[in-house]
Amino acid sequence: MPAKPDIITTNGHVRLINTGDVAELADYYLRNRTHFSPWEPVRGRDFYRHETMLNRILEAEGAFHADKQVKLGVFCPQDQRMIASVDFSQIVRGPLQACFVGYSIDAQYQGQGLMQEFMPPCLGYMFNQCNIHRVMATYMMSNQRSAVLLERLGFEKEGYAKSYLNIAGTWEDHILTALVNPSH
Ligand SMILES: CC(C)(COP(=O)(O)OP(=O)(O)OC[C@H]1O[C@@H](n2cnc3c(N)ncnc32)[C@H](O)[C@@H]1OP(=O)(O)O)[C@@H](O)C(=O)NCCC(=O)NCCS
Repeated sequence: MPAKPDIITTNGHVRLINTGDVAELADYYLRNRTHFSPWEPVRGRDFYRHETMLNRILEAEGAFHADKQVKLGVFCPQDQRMIASVDFSQIVRGPLQACFVGYSIDAQYQGQGLMQEFMPPCLGYMFNQCNIHRVMATYMMSNQRSAVLLERLGFEKEGYAKSYLNIAGTWEDHILTALVNPSH
């Protein structure tokens, strides 16, 4: 098992989300509910409850130890608030050595190029410490911020999947992209 990620960047502290973060994680999602809602599955009221958040974190901790997921939070070095999320999930080994990545940033921190700062060390961890060969990301055509972010990170378009994910209550087409480990 690789060492737990613990990365300091200029504007953030990137680390695994743990059970001490339940309130912070719930607050991150609650205060960004409107900001995230066009790009996420419908979140029922239960999603924001303490118990649900705790269970999600416990599940992610188990999945980290089972080599299935790396759920990262980015925390503000000044006040320790969670300001971004980078979640590598569905890790598959064997000849594929791949996973998906999902990400978001707090509305107050959007538009400052911060994801361009936070994502590369996260991807570096997956490539260099976890030996992942391919990271896949998908986005809706209308999510231009996501499109620009991925392109700048070097993700390449690989396809177009119709009716791919249920987002905000509607089955939405998605652009499929991937970044291959540059050192493989
Ligand atoms: C996706 C997300 C993480 C990007 O955050 P960010 O890196 O702060 O995004 P930015 O605002 O810097 O936008 C990135 C680039 O897209 C550009 N952009 C923004 N809106 C645009 C539009 N409508 N058309 C074209 N370009 C656009 C920005 O100008 C910026 O480029 P610049 O640095 O040259 O100004 C953030 O928007 C977010 O959390 N969204 C909600 C959750 C989400 O969508 N997650 C991803 C699901 S696939």
